[in-house]
Amino acid sequence: MTDVDGYIASFDGEPGYLDWAAFGPLSPSVRSEAHADTELLGSGRRSSIDLVADHATRARDLAASVMGVDDSAVVLQPSTTYGLMHALYGVAGGVMMGRGEFPSLTIAASRAVDALASAHVQWVEPVDGFMSPDFVRANLTDDTRAVAVSLVDFRTGYRTDLSALRDVIGDRLLIVDAIQGFGVVEADYSAADVVCSNGYKWLRAGRGTGFAYFSDRALERIRPVLSGFAGTDGDLPLDVVPLPASSARAFTVTAPDALAAARLATALAETAAVGVGVIEAEIAQRAADVMFVADRYDVPVVTPRDPARRAGIVTLAPAPQDAAALAASLANHGLTVTSRSGQVRISAHAGTAADTLRLLGDALAEFSSARVW
Ligand SMILES: Cc1ncc(COP(=O)(O)O)c(C=O)c1O
Repeated sequence: MTDVDGYIASFDGEPGYLDWAAFGPLSPSVRSEAHADTELLGSGRRSSIDLVADHATRARDLAASVMGVDDSAVVLQPSTTYGLMHALYGVAGGVMMGRGEFPSLTIAASRAVDALASAHVQWVEPVDGFMSPDFVRANLTDDTRAVAVSLVDFRTGYRTDLSALRDVIGDRLLIVDAIQGFGVVEADYSAADVVCSNGYKWLRAGRGTGFAYFSDRALERIRPVLSGFAGTDGDLPLDVVPLPASSARAFTVTAPDALAAARLATALAETAAVGVGVIEAEIAQRAADVMFVADRYDVPVVTPRDPARRAGIVTLAPAPQDAAALAASLANHGLTVTSRSGQVRISAHAGTAADTLRLLGDALAEFSSARVW
């Protein structure tokens, strides 16, 4: 195990960064692994090329181990959205989905329905934006075959309880977009049937580092519609067109990007060495600190207060007439956040230090003193 202080010290970016939900600046070990592998791929030596290619297996195995699932049930993907598209193009029947989900889910589902008509979307709109087990239970119909949710909602920061959702939906498929929580909150991934994520936010691995898990139930019920030559068993199929593999491998198109896989493997190893639970506790504290400052200056928070129902995202919802002034004050204090639709999404990571939280306090104090009540 790596101690948490070493992990926290590895956050070497500039103060003021509170936008981990948008993009995670790469960790030093990911950066140096990327440099080393790039050099190896320039050598023209078969052994070096093979060495880099092996990172794909390592990345897959590490992702499986963080999820607590079998290696063979996990496949690398270019991104979360690619993984979700495999699931949504292959599913049949009613798919329950919040209209407010990130467009990776809503657009993929709509396009799949338009193209194939084998599924239809059962749109739901929770008033608070939270796809809670009670809300899902109340909206299930006999026709619902799958429920698609985010592990952590990109807008409100609400964290879904996967085990509770499983209890509610019975043996229907549970499709999870995990990007806003993977590696930073402990989740019962075995309760899900499809889990898709990417390493470029909270894992600090850069883009191209997606992966997806498919349970046995998912393999039985989701057709591998977008399966390519890499989605077959055995050697490169030449002059024949074999069936898709019977494992999660079916949900792949072509060979993975080994450089991206190397970054993902490094980031996952770093995460596993510290422990997701340890990282979660640090992030929960940072989120509580952000909420404390927001409360102090009377800026409304829409993110749940209960640490079990949130992760690294804290969303502020100022009065509509205050939104621009709040965003301006944050920017003037050198803070990087996401301001969208009148709300401000603040996302701190374990390595977000006191200097950044002080800047946040200063920005909110200035905003508050200029506010006209
Ligand atoms: C909840 C959620 N899902 C999916 C994505 C996009 O993921 P990817 O770029 O891996 O397809 C984002 C990006 O912000 C997101 O917040």
